[in-house]
Amino acid sequence: MNEIESVLHEDRRFPPSADFAAAARLSDEAEYQRLYRQSIDDPDAYWSGVAGELPWMEPWTQVLDWSEKPVAKWFIGGKLNASAWCLDRHLAERGDKTAILWEGEPGDVREISYRELHADVSRFANGLKARGVKKGDRVVIYMPMIPELAMAVLACARIGAIHSVVFGGFSARALRERIEDGGCTAAITCDGGWRRGKILPLKQEVDESIEGIDSVHTVVVVKRGANDVEWDGRRDVWYHDLVADQPADCPPEPMDSEDPLFILYTSGSTGKPKGILHTTAGYMVGAYHSTKYVFDLREDDVYWCTADVGWITGHSYIVYGPLANGATVLMYEGAPTTPHAGRFWELCEKHGVTVFYTAPTAIRTFVRLGDEHVKKHDLSKLRLLGTVGEPINPEAWMWYHRVVGGERCPIVDTWWQTETGGIMITPLPGVTATKPGSATRPLMGVDAAIVDEDGNELPPNHGGLLVIRKPWPSMLRGLWGDMDRYRETYWAKFGDYYFAGDGARRDEDGYFWIMGRVDDVINVSGHRLSTMEVESALVSHEHVCEAAVVGRADEVTGQAICAFVTPDASVTVDDGLRAALMEHVAEEIGKLARPAEIRFTNALPKTRSGKIMRRLLRDVAEGRETTGDMSTIEDLSVLAKLRENQE
Ligand code: WT7
Repeated sequence: MNEIESVLHEDRRFPPSADFAAAARLSDEAEYQRLYRQSIDDPDAYWSGVAGELPWMEPWTQVLDWSEKPVAKWFIGGKLNASAWCLDRHLAERGDKTAILWEGEPGDVREISYRELHADVSRFANGLKARGVKKGDRVVIYMPMIPELAMAVLACARIGAIHSVVFGGFSARALRERIEDGGCTAAITCDGGWRRGKILPLKQEVDESIEGIDSVHTVVVVKRGANDVEWDGRRDVWYHDLVADQPADCPPEPMDSEDPLFILYTSGSTGKPKGILHTTAGYMVGAYHSTKYVFDLREDDVYWCTADVGWITGHSYIVYGPLANGATVLMYEGAPTTPHAGRFWELCEKHGVTVFYTAPTAIRTFVRLGDEHVKKHDLSKLRLLGTVGEPINPEAWMWYHRVVGGERCPIVDTWWQTETGGIMITPLPGVTATKPGSATRPLMGVDAAIVDEDGNELPPNHGGLLVIRKPWPSMLRGLWGDMDRYRETYWAKFGDYYFAGDGARRDEDGYFWIMGRVDDVINVSGHRLSTMEVESALVSHEHVCEAAVVGRADEVTGQAICAFVTPDASVTVDDGLRAALMEHVAEEIGKLARPAEIRFTNALPKTRSGKIMRRLLRDVAEGRETTGDMSTIEDLSVLAKLRENQE
């Protein structure tokens, strides 16, 4: 493979303010360097120190066993319980502190203390046991963002059942595929949940998804939407009936460090979804450690991660990481713009949010909606911002910094994956001078590098493949039921190195610039370009809100650049704008990257977690039928519209 040429130039630099650094857990470059060196040179000592901060039922005897690579074992011989790390350990010190602060889409609010959460989870766990759910069983959870979702996850962990959370926006078909693959025997759902002013009938989807699957013996239903549901008295049980007579005390099951904690499905570009397997101790130590350093959480913080618990971000940074750190976590049920465009900022103001973590796709939506919705609200309590999920274009980063952060809050752009379990490359907010668009440097314990096709490390500013050269505690342990695919997908390319599938470069300061999935790279006249960088150039034009770039076959150049562009509402869409945008890219990057074609569109096809599905756009650009897995697309009509608009 040739190198991936990097064309993005960015010289702006934002060190943390003296005030922020003074109060931060880590504020000293030399201290970061020292911790990082220790974590790489002597991982046993480093991770023993971190794990020693947490309450074990039995201590581990060996930190890491990598002899059966690529399946790592961490904290061998240890016994623990993840729910006890999130709940029991806080009862004495902060039992009355709010653990979950929740707001429903219609505006109803609940505050649940650590003591109450401990009791609710224990009753839920006892109820599951009473229905015959036991250690090692798989339980599918399909719920809206209500507190009982977090309780369900923790109740499973408490009794050692393996949870498989499926995002509540998936269809019955996608749900069925995941239930079958995981061999689930129980389900936890709701009658319905609020989304964009309507009730989504979740129980109905569950009924449809398990029709004919006899292995599912129990469906627990939380009452939320008060919508009508069909009932099978042998199988279905209301949550309020299940827990009514259960004691608020349920001793946590002692789990082996390497006992599975959960399965979470993630879609590949081809084939069926992959059941990413995470085990107990390594995942928990990783979630605890990254939350502590990246979000720098303190006793009086109000922390809000806007993801859904149905994604890994919600597992690690709504439930396990923040609760293991004793934080107050805001959870919100609804859509970001219901009932109005300023809903997120209204919630920040109302609940005094101090740390806010969201996705670039959300930020770009807010840019498009206009600054006035943000400025209406008092966001002066915010002290730290974060992003995850995609590369953030420098323009969106600057907007986040200026309009949301009031130029005072550090931004942690966190690179990681469902597979990595926790944050891998990220600024440390009190230490790192950030550069818009860069996830900056590896977190302690992460040996990240940029290599060529043969695994040789590339010099600074050469685009290549992102790998992790050493095992880390929260890494996946396999794919559920398909260890061959695990080896093939992540390890076949380099053997000892974990291959993340992303292209990236590292600059002269050792900062990582993620360039997106390698599958998305375009080859124009022998130059390999990252789609993300061309998109960034487009988005830096004053009238562009969002852009997606793909390659289509071209007789002369091999591939030609086809750009799908969402302009802002103020501009007339015509050939003049088209020509201006082509010129803009040529000026920003060079003639080489000038799009051969620009198509205007109101919406881009995205996954339900907000990632642009370039694979589908490639089909549109080439005028091909779409093939492959479509279960993850958010809105099929977007694709139909794009096809209609073909010139
Ligand atoms: C892929 C993983 C990690 C939780 C959410 C997504 C992309 C993620 C960043 C970032 C650039 C990013 C990568 C990665 N990605 N964060 N900060 N900068 N790219 O989890 O669905 O498993 O996706 O998301 O391409 O490989 P996921």
